[in-house]
Amino acid sequence: MTRQKKTDAPAPTVPASCNAPETRATMRGTIDNLLVEERVFRPLPRIAAEATVNPQDILAARKHADADWKGFWEEAADELQWFRKWETVVDETNAPFYRWFSGARCNIVHNALDRHIETVNKNRLALIWEGEPGDTRKLTYFELYREVNRFANVLRGLGVKKGERVLIYMPSLPETVIAMLATAKIGAVHSVVFAGFSSGALADRIEDAQPRAIVTVDGFYRNGRVIPLKPLVDEALQHCHSLVEAVVVVHRAHLDVAMHDDRDRWWHDVMLHQPTEALTEVVEANDPLFMLYTSGTTGKPKGIVHSHGGYMVGVHRTLNWVFDLKPTDIFWCTADPGWITGHSYVIYGPLMAGTTTLLYEGHPLYPEAGRLWSMVERWGVTILYTVPTLIRMLMRFGTQYPAGHDLTTLRLLGTVGEPISPEAWVWFYKNIGRGQCPLLDTWWQTETGMIMISPLPVSLLKPGSVTKPMPGIDVDVVDEQGNSLPPRTGGYLVIKRPWPAMMSTVFNDHAAYVDMYWSQFPGWYFPGDVARKDDDGYIWIQGRADDVIMIAGHRVGTAELEAALSSHPAVAECGVIGVPDEIRGEVAKAFVMLHDDLPPFGGYVQADDMETELMEHVRRELGPVAVLKAVEFRKELPKNRSGKIMRRILRAEEFGEDVGDTSTLEEGPFCLR
Ligand code: WT7
Repeated sequence: MTRQKKTDAPAPTVPASCNAPETRATMRGTIDNLLVEERVFRPLPRIAAEATVNPQDILAARKHADADWKGFWEEAADELQWFRKWETVVDETNAPFYRWFSGARCNIVHNALDRHIETVNKNRLALIWEGEPGDTRKLTYFELYREVNRFANVLRGLGVKKGERVLIYMPSLPETVIAMLATAKIGAVHSVVFAGFSSGALADRIEDAQPRAIVTVDGFYRNGRVIPLKPLVDEALQHCHSLVEAVVVVHRAHLDVAMHDDRDRWWHDVMLHQPTEALTEVVEANDPLFMLYTSGTTGKPKGIVHSHGGYMVGVHRTLNWVFDLKPTDIFWCTADPGWITGHSYVIYGPLMAGTTTLLYEGHPLYPEAGRLWSMVERWGVTILYTVPTLIRMLMRFGTQYPAGHDLTTLRLLGTVGEPISPEAWVWFYKNIGRGQCPLLDTWWQTETGMIMISPLPVSLLKPGSVTKPMPGIDVDVVDEQGNSLPPRTGGYLVIKRPWPAMMSTVFNDHAAYVDMYWSQFPGWYFPGDVARKDDDGYIWIQGRADDVIMIAGHRVGTAELEAALSSHPAVAECGVIGVPDEIRGEVAKAFVMLHDDLPPFGGYVQADDMETELMEHVRRELGPVAVLKAVEFRKELPKNRSGKIMRRILRAEEFGEDVGDTSTLEEGPFCLR
């Protein structure tokens, strides 16, 4: 490690025009640290010697991509197998609905599975799975291929057709991977719903996606308990209109669940006697592969759609470059398959690369804080890709747990999901990486499908910075008018060129796709983040610019939380903001006006009881991801003239800041002018 003294750089500021007060407020601790961070970590000679992509290659790739970006991605596409080559690398005629590898025929499952059966990868481990109680399963590529074929036959037998949706409501299990790949194999579209979502959230997704079939599990193990899941499917189906004809239930937790004769089937029953071969559907590169719901500024999550061709090229290239995969790697990305990280870097990426991917069912601290380190030691994990919130959680337990395990197999570390503070970065780097593993902080989104900004193993690292865009990706930090900002000035992050794994649209809502991502800066993609560059062109992500909060790295819209709160009979009106939390990064705080005609606190004697009631209500409505930490009861809420609750004012009050422009504020007792 070398310490570099920086010149007397003034503290970067976010321009007044940058509408991101919550970012500055809620991420304060992180950002203050980022402003003074000066450490630089250079790659060790061993890393440089082992790396497939060295600094000269990165420079050459950037040059190539800047001169001919289509040619650059075409080369990446040539690393995979296609049934028929494309007519155009990217058809821009209907931008921003870009059509990558237009005219090509392919199937991602052919690259993730089928082609390996013809090579030495056939008998290599594709998947290692560990259940929370300690049970394990291992599948070679050949075994996984056969299981996927069997389930593909099941789905076809259930009448699932190309283009139809299969909803997968499962935790991290081998069957989750099998169900996803089988769905893609037959050209259907998977929609995985995180097992931590409530039946209400599930019902919303069923209603929007209109799946033909659902795959779920009786229950699963989490933090020493059995969490039932199948009953939540029953409940959701009762409360929505759907086409669902079949629910396939994996037997995992020995739960006695109700099975509806005409609709529900056990996984092990339907898999019995299925042939172990199945045809891989030939799809056009732009045919949809999956959809994943994510929170934005509206009350209801949007279904982000990704397609076969571009997605497979982007994920394959980025995994190989960022994590520099070797045939001997055991790759552990701790994300749940229910999120984009799980799709791209637990399942599709590692399988396309022919590497071994590790999945864990349970809680990272169960039965004690050394679980992760014990798994790294037992499986000989070489690459560990995780989230800052987990690092913060583990830091609390000190170094005693990692010190008790042999972590010397690790050669690379990665993080994703939210800004990582330099403290957490250095802790992870020193105590888990032994000061010898490059720590790659990767920035991307559900929408981008693939890593967009990240160091490579040979990059010079600065704790807290996501460093530079991947070769081929054109990123800038701009003001509201789209002018490029000088270093040390915060502004909006924009992506100026399309990239292969980009989302193709919002399911059932093409207008929302244009409106949410392409209307702020016409011609450029706006991810919704604020960032700044430093003098070396390194990018420092500051947080979200919109009404989305990141709870333990999970995106939750304040509008979604407000909708959930408003569904409680005692709530008249409410506004929700993000507030800092030591472990989760951010959590939600609500300001609530109760109905006038109710006794004080909705009939509950203590304000605390009503607060608890509302917190539990939100958890019931949205699931444990949406952590509401505090409720403040108000007689009035600040509103603008059109009656919209002004979260900006609530935030300013909460953090004791200048409330800024209140000219649109409604007159009344709350008027601050
Ligand atoms: C948002 C996307 C991509 C998988 C995880 C989240 C934030 C993501 C970083 C990072 C700072 C980050 C951004 C982004 N984010 N990675 N390395 N540093 N912030 O996917 O749920 O679609 O959320 O996560 O704010 O917009 P997602």
